[in-house]
Amino acid sequence: MSGNITFTMIKPKAVENGHIGNILAKVIEGGFTIKAMKYLRLTKEQAMEFYAVHKERPFYNDLTEFMSSGPIVAAVIEKENAVEDYRKLIGATNPADAVEGTIRKLYATSIEANAVHGSDSDENAQIEAGFFFSKLEVF
Ligand code: CMP
Repeated sequence: MSGNITFTMIKPKAVENGHIGNILAKVIEGGFTIKAMKYLRLTKEQAMEFYAVHKERPFYNDLTEFMSSGPIVAAVIEKENAVEDYRKLIGATNPADAVEGTIRKLYATSIEANAVHGSDSDENAQIEAGFFFSKLEVF
């Protein structure tokens, strides 16, 4: 996988609220192609491992409880300048600060239930994609 990929998850609340289709449409309209995709539910332990970088943060327990509370969509998506462009498309971490028209502005309900995750660097995109997908599952 090159530097032109990023990793995303549609979080449990956005799934529960019926936004999978609308979010994927925004991703595709944004010029991304889907390289890998799964619908699954994380265990608490898997969510803790995925978000281990935040383990000292006060929101770590709530975030990992939330992320294991229901099914998610995990995907690897591709586009030139994927990490940066996807972060623009999804908007600020806190939906209250997100620009109009961004995925978080449209579909997030709180900073924790902020509709989607997006990798913050090319290096983390590779690590996060590898957490969910084997080479055989990425096209
Ligand atoms: P995400 O892109 O999945 O990466 C880490 C997540 O931690 C982030 O989205 C938010 O959902 C969550 N997060 C970040 N800061 C806070 C905060 N101050 N309070 C609660 N959750 C937070």
